[in-house]
Amino acid sequence: MSMRKALVVACVAAVVAAVAVVQLRQAGIIGSGLALRDADAGAGTATVGGPFSLIDPQGRTVTDADFRGKVMLVYFGYTHCPDVCPTDLTAMGEAVRLLGPAAGNLAPIFITLDPQRDTPGVMGEFVQLIDPQVTGLSGPPAATAAAAKAYRVYYAKVEKPDDPDGYGIDHSAYMYLMGRDGKFLTVFRHGSDPDTIAAGIKPYL
Ligand code: NI
Repeated sequence: MSMRKALVVACVAAVVAAVAVVQLRQAGIIGSGLALRDADAGAGTATVGGPFSLIDPQGRTVTDADFRGKVMLVYFGYTHCPDVCPTDLTAMGEAVRLLGPAAGNLAPIFITLDPQRDTPGVMGEFVQLIDPQVTGLSGPPAATAAAAKAYRVYYAKVEKPDDPDGYGIDHSAYMYLMGRDGKFLTVFRHGSDPDTIAAGIKPYL
């Protein structure tokens, strides 16, 4: 293309990027130097979080409304994840224990992006390994997709030859802290250590 046309294209791209940055900043997502890889596509509003309706390990339907009055710490992943999820979920469990009695006001939640394998029963056993306080939620694929969309979680099924079932789930990995009213407070990026997570949660309990 011509130089002039290239400049116009570059300018439009810059404006789109700037608008996305402002939206994320308004949502408090990059105010602390974080960037949501999946929220950068310039989707209309910058709200993170929202309604979900999933299935707990006892087979009961659980919605976001059931956690009102508690501070929610929400993580999306899957139990067959080789490294990302185990790292973050271990940190989640450790943060809960660091908070001690104050964690009574906290609802740590692990939502699977792989309901095909992570049935409610599998989730129930898995969360015991993280911390007994963690609620593991599964659900039909449509309910999983709706919850992920509300939290702007990117995920995609991918072929993985080293997985026993031949597939894995690529996914964004953020831990979302949601207030007693269910509204977004802050986010912890992948690899955050337990002390950082606990310290970030404490003021809201
Ligand atoms: Ni993972």
